Amino acid sequence: METFMNILITILVLTFQFLFTGSHHHPLDPLNPNEISKIQQIITTSHLSSLPNLNFHFVDLDEPDKKDVIKWLSSEKQNQSFPHRQAKVVVRGGGKTHEIIVNLTNGSITSDHVYKGDGYPPLTLTELVQAARLPFNSSKFKDLVARRGLNISGITCFPFTIGWFGESITRRAVKLSCFYRERTNNVFSMPIEGLTILVNIESMQITSIISKRGKTTLPEADGTQLFSSVSSFGERPDPINNRSFTINGHNINWKNWRFHVGFNARAGVIISTTSIFDSGKQEWRRVLYRGHISETFVPYMDPSSEWYYRTFFDVGEFGFGRSAVSLVPLIDCPSNAAYLDGYMAGGDGLPQKVPRAICIFERYTGDIAWRHTEVNWYSRESGESEVNLVVRMVATVGNYDYILDWEFKQTGSIKVKVRNRSKT
Ligand SMILES: *[C@@H]1O[C@H](CO)[C@@H](O)[C@H](O)[C@H]1NC(C)=O
Ligand SMILES: *[C@@H]1O[C@H](CO)[C@@H](O)[C@H](O)[C@H]1NC(C)=O
Ligand SMILES: *[C@@H]1O[C@H](CO)[C@@H](O)[C@H](O)[C@H]1NC(C)=O
Ligand SMILES: *[C@@H]1O[C@H](CO)[C@@H](O)[C@H](O)[C@H]1NC(C)=O
Ligand SMILES: *[C@@H]1O[C@H](CO)[C@@H](O)[C@H](O)[C@H]1NC(C)=O
Ligand SMILES: *[C@@H]1O[C@H](CO)[C@@H](O)[C@H](O)[C@H]1NC(C)=O
Ligand SMILES: *[C@@H]1O[C@H](CO)[C@@H](O)[C@H](O)[C@H]1NC(C)=O
Repeated sequence: METFMNILITILVLTFQFLFTGSHHHPLDPLNPNEISKIQQIITTSHLSSLPNLNFHFVDLDEPDKKDVIKWLSSEKQNQSFPHRQAKVVVRGGGKTHEIIVNLTNGSITSDHVYKGDGYPPLTLTELVQAARLPFNSSKFKDLVARRGLNISGITCFPFTIGWFGESITRRAVKLSCFYRERTNNVFSMPIEGLTILVNIESMQITSIISKRGKTTLPEADGTQLFSSVSSFGERPDPINNRSFTINGHNINWKNWRFHVGFNARAGVIISTTSIFDSGKQEWRRVLYRGHISETFVPYMDPSSEWYYRTFFDVGEFGFGRSAVSLVPLIDCPSNAAYLDGYMAGGDGLPQKVPRAICIFERYTGDIAWRHTEVNWYSRESGESEVNLVVRMVATVGNYDYILDWEFKQTGSIKVKVRNRSKT
């Protein structure tokens, strides 16, 4: 099994895709790889290029105003591109955070604002990977590992955000916790407790290594092994052979629903401009303008020194889109699923692709959508079994697999589910 770190590195070195240009069908369409490349070029050839250690922390569509979107969608011009296209970009360089607006229509930077408030932008994948490698270059760490009787080549360290406990935070930092992989391929099952490494992310150096005295007791490896083959997850959903939805760009039409599916590094799936057809009034009714996961807070509530800071904001700090995995056909999604790729910018600003980041499929719920037996005419039964439309993504943040489903029902409701199907 690949470790989390290996997967991070794999994502980093994924080949960048420049193939898809396409015209925009919807004002909320996510940035495509060409636009991400263009933004990277605009910024790296602007006044910002002189900033030392320039890194891209967030690149996303700067959404037009809701009223403009609604007006445009209800106009006749839907077969043309929305005239204004802007991106919002957060970069860091020279120890400062810049919030930038890029006009993609004329390729210029419209505004550049240095952020002076509390907090820092999300960590980049590059920073996380670099930080995780630092201990292996530290003689103090190697010594502490040897004194615990552990084999250094069986250790993986993970960067954790540090939380905030009222103190004044003047630099960006993460804490590393390390895990032992010997005798198990389930990397999170054997934490090396009592060893915490504080890393200054800005200078990419170890600030301190906090080690408790005494012998480390590792949990037993027995029974922690993960399955080596994905197919052992089993369970195949009931296939519905004929698809009754259409995908046009990011617009989805299905039965009485129509909506838009976007994607960004922070939220992952974004469902927007959702309407349902009211057959009574013979008109489309707007149901949801924009919906996505805002945040996921995971406080462990353990006051010990190596656990108290584990108060993760999995969306804001790591990103559901950044942590999105490529869905595996027939395991993550049934055979009748259609897939959409996800794009975002890496720490260098260049586009990164998550193939099959989102899947869309119909499923039988096993419930009755509607039925009637006409008693005047025996055996005159009519009815339909309930079929829903599901939009799914999976974000794997550390040892958590968040399965996120947006399920559209023909009766007019949307069910949002977050599940964890971990076997361990
Ligand atoms: C777009 O739609 C309008 C109105 O339906 C039509 O007149 C026009 O020819 C269409 N343009 C294109 C490029 O298809
Ligand atoms: C972006 O540039 C275009 C072309 O110069 C201009 O028409 C448009 O108004 C600009 N957008 C914004 C939001 O300023
Ligand atoms: C692009 O548009 C903005 C806003 O309209 C304007 O301020 C800027 O000068 C334009 N830049 C170029 C290169 O045309
Ligand atoms: C590891 O340490 C050596 C010697 O101090 C240094 O030259 C090298 O750049 C370091 N590598 C990393 C990845 O920090
Ligand atoms: C440490 O682990 C590596 C890789 O698994 C192995 O080749 C090596 O023999 C181990 N060393 C000891 C002292 O166990
Ligand atoms: C599949 O297609 C057949 C024939 O067009 C149709 O009768 C049936 O209702 C469709 N099933 C679903 C689930 O849409
Ligand atoms: C996920 O679900 C499994 C099975 O219900 C449970 O044992 C495990 O603690 C859950 N994991 C998390 C991180 O909530």
